[in-house]
Amino acid sequence: MEPFVFNNPTKLIFGKGQNESLANEVKNYGKKVLLVYGGGSIKRNGLYDFVLQQLDEAEMQVTELAGVEPNPRLTTVRKGIDACRENEIDLVLAVGGGSVIDASKAIAVGAKSEADIWDIIKKTAQPTDALPLGTILTLAATGSEMNAGSVITNWETNEKLGWGSPFSFPKFSILDPKNTLSVPEDQTVYGIVDMMSHVIEAYFHKADNTLLQDRIMESILLTVMETAPKLLEDLSNEEHRETILYCGTMALNGITQMGLRGDWATHNMEHAVSAVYDIPHAGGLAILFPHWLRYTIDEKISRHVQLATRVLGVDSEGKSDQEIALEGIEKLSSFWTSLGAPNRLADYDINDSQIEKMAMLASNRGKFGNFKPLEKEDVTSILTAAL
Ligand code: NZQ
Ligand code: ZN
Repeated sequence: MEPFVFNNPTKLIFGKGQNESLANEVKNYGKKVLLVYGGGSIKRNGLYDFVLQQLDEAEMQVTELAGVEPNPRLTTVRKGIDACRENEIDLVLAVGGGSVIDASKAIAVGAKSEADIWDIIKKTAQPTDALPLGTILTLAATGSEMNAGSVITNWETNEKLGWGSPFSFPKFSILDPKNTLSVPEDQTVYGIVDMMSHVIEAYFHKADNTLLQDRIMESILLTVMETAPKLLEDLSNEEHRETILYCGTMALNGITQMGLRGDWATHNMEHAVSAVYDIPHAGGLAILFPHWLRYTIDEKISRHVQLATRVLGVDSEGKSDQEIALEGIEKLSSFWTSLGAPNRLADYDINDSQIEKMAMLASNRGKFGNFKPLEKEDVTSILTAAL
């Protein structure tokens, strides 16, 4: 494995009943809070009222930023930064899914930076500070609640870019499985595909001697695959919600990637697709990942074989490595389809008309992907295969 330093400063407050800890937690961060949320799911499931009660108990003054979009937009981030400055905000509190949390990270960093937030996201300027950020996660998927990453879309330029900095870790994140009970079936499936994809991105690495990392990743995948069908049978089951919630956090809080560098090309390609078509992130991943796996099968086939045999239940007896790897990819793809995920770009009415543009967007910062570096022609091939 590669030498590494691990430092994840987010305080994780996890489990049934943990919503109740909000009032005590926010008291550590001043008096003025910017409450950031999405399109209204927290109003429909009662969480909004509960949060306001807790903030009232903590004697916080509340300013609201509502309407953060799925695939959050730079324009909304800018509104949040202005609100922080005008109201002298002490704490940003994100209540929602990955989009709300990602937007809040950019708001918290942007509010304390002289540089423009888009320059920071484009990595042409460095952040130097941030407002403290707390989160209440309502959707198990991205891992944003316990990492420094954020993904923001600029619709003027059709760019959807991931960025992060040591300043963008949440100070605390409250994960109460109750808050995820109202997540509808389609978003539940997307969350499951997203967390599995995060593990698979990390699994395709070239580091040696990663016995424990591999076993940790395999455990997360096996646990998700065991629980997902049960949860989809009974969306109101709080135990299954709790398991999936924990898996989503563990899939992308840095623990799987100690001492190795995952690939992440599929995420980059998906961001290019959703920058043009505004499709759900994990819908894009479910379509693209099997094609990326086929495209990279000869890169280091032992990784493919290990995933197929240890996680995807492929019986290797009498089969070549190629056959084992291909059968594993089929099993992964059909598992996602069995949950209800899409498997072709055509499922989102995407045809070949914008492939050039998407390939250009994915590759305009140079070669990408640590396991197999890709360039524009590779992206074109993968997207074309996925039509
Ligand atoms: O906006 P509201 O009304 O809250 O509704 C949301 C939204 O429509 C709804 N929802 C969330 N919690 C709910 C709920 N509905 C009912 N009950 C609840 N408890 O779900 C919809 C999708 O929400 P969103 O936050 O967009 O989903 P997700 O958490 O999957 O986040 C996706 C975004 O995260 C980025 C993606 O690219 C995408 O922009 N990612 C962020 C990462 C990170 N920061 O580390 C890594 C990921 O790979 C990913 O790229
Ligand atoms: Zn993802």
